[in-house]
Amino acid sequence: MSKEEKYDTLYAEIASVVSGETDAVANMANVAALLHECFQFCWTGFYRVVGDQLVLGPFQGPVACTRIAKGRGVCGTAWARGETVVVDDVHLFPGHIACSSASRSEIVVPVIANGQVTGVLDIDSQYLKTFDQTDAMWLEKIVKLIKCVP
Ligand code: SME
Repeated sequence: MSKEEKYDTLYAEIASVVSGETDAVANMANVAALLHECFQFCWTGFYRVVGDQLVLGPFQGPVACTRIAKGRGVCGTAWARGETVVVDDVHLFPGHIACSSASRSEIVVPVIANGQVTGVLDIDSQYLKTFDQTDAMWLEKIVKLIKCVP
């Protein structure tokens, strides 16, 4: 199955799973689980904006850092810019925060509610150059399904 076909099927599944639930943390947990299982990424999860920091939310994968300042690392950069950041090689991204030495490439997609970034979806891959505009497009669509974000 191609990446597009996987996302197409997965999107329908995620839409169905989150449709009956309004709690954002519950929905983030299931979105992380479904994405992680489908693509076998090395880390898939959310950070939530709490005050002036990103705080670790629901995730699948190894233990991760719990707090990230705005503008720091790939996650804090996506938050500050309010846009998706795709990193082909994490070792070449200035300020990348290495939670796992297995991570080689990364994508971070902001979760936006009422024009404000309320969190980010962060995905790490064990392979270089895993993510492209197809991932960005689908993941931006997927995070829009998380209706209510604290
Ligand atoms: N690599 C991220 C930190 C979070 S972990 O990858 C789970 C960053 O640079 O912001």
